[in-house]
Amino acid sequence: MPKCVGILTSGGDSPGLNAAIRAIGRTLNQEGISLLGFRDGYEGIAFDRTMRLTANAFSGILTVGGTILRTSRNKPNKMPVGKNIIDMTDAIVENYNKHQLECLVCIGGGGTHKSALRLKKKGLNIITLPKTIDNDLAVTDTTIGFDTATGTATSAIDSLHSTASSHKRIMLVEVMGHRAGWLTLASGIAGGADVALLPEIPYDLNKVADAIKKRTRQGKVFSIVPVAEGAYPIEAAKLFNAAIERKENFKSKKEKNESKEELNRLSSKYCGHTIELAQSLEDMTGLETRVTILGHLQRGGTPSSADRLLATMLGAACAECILKEKYGVMIAAKGQHTIPVPLEDVAGIRKTVPLDHPWLLNARKMGISLGD
Ligand code: F6P
Repeated sequence: MPKCVGILTSGGDSPGLNAAIRAIGRTLNQEGISLLGFRDGYEGIAFDRTMRLTANAFSGILTVGGTILRTSRNKPNKMPVGKNIIDMTDAIVENYNKHQLECLVCIGGGGTHKSALRLKKKGLNIITLPKTIDNDLAVTDTTIGFDTATGTATSAIDSLHSTASSHKRIMLVEVMGHRAGWLTLASGIAGGADVALLPEIPYDLNKVADAIKKRTRQGKVFSIVPVAEGAYPIEAAKLFNAAIERKENFKSKKEKNESKEELNRLSSKYCGHTIELAQSLEDMTGLETRVTILGHLQRGGTPSSADRLLATMLGAACAECILKEKYGVMIAAKGQHTIPVPLEDVAGIRKTVPLDHPWLLNARKMGISLGD
């Protein structure tokens, strides 16, 4: 009987997912292995919602954003069913066996990897690919979607320059990235930002205002300020550090849940308040200020050539692992190469921007204020 491999995409979509599905499907098809798609992330395999992926399914999808399989953030062990949240892990194992899958490929970000590891521990053959516009997955150099999202945020910042300069305004641009500043830093450098606020460096509002006032004294009439959605002020740093440390070194499930809730509470209190931040800067500098929230625009659109190339390389390497029956791994990008790394080295670990990262050092050398 010919082998069959299952595939799903989970978590927030990102440009390049279809390119990855196509690369896996086409490479496996050449070896006579078929691909069975599961709809809507882990929901598909929990409730047996399938999509047969014959060779035709891969035509014309390389350049298309989103995912032909659709996606969701629902987890195997916390699946909404009507008004209830149910552990569907056993149903997933049953459906995996029912379809006699050789393995299940899960393409996703942080949440997807935690769930994938859980399924591996249940005895399933799992391979994952790293995908998120946030670029916050451990071990891999980069993730599918990050390059396209960086391009989208950069061209938004580019467009803001002329209107900022015409009106002599401060332009705040809220950039996605969850609790990591990769997208803000990359698009800030590429877009010629004057100030960039990242979750990794709690900002001092006075220093942000000083950096803008210094520009005014130098005769610069406008400032461009990308703000990561997860950036927070210095006053909240102690609280965030304590919650993060508790979450990373939890001693009981109760403590883990409490620290997660605390982080969410802190985030809603201190992060993503870009409109209020703009008002404060306007008051402190006397300059008119406007806000652009890029939001889900950053997740959409045609994947860049770099993302298509990355997704194709990772997808083909994934197929190769399947042929070698090497499971329980994520395919990581390392320079021009790909390597399989144990899921245990990735799941539950957030890769934030190291304070000595070359991009960060470069930003400082270029005179971009990081608000510290
Ligand atoms: O993880 C990708 C991401 O776009 C984050 O940058 C953002 O915080 C989040 O997803 C938004 O999620 P949703 O689309 O579920 O609102």
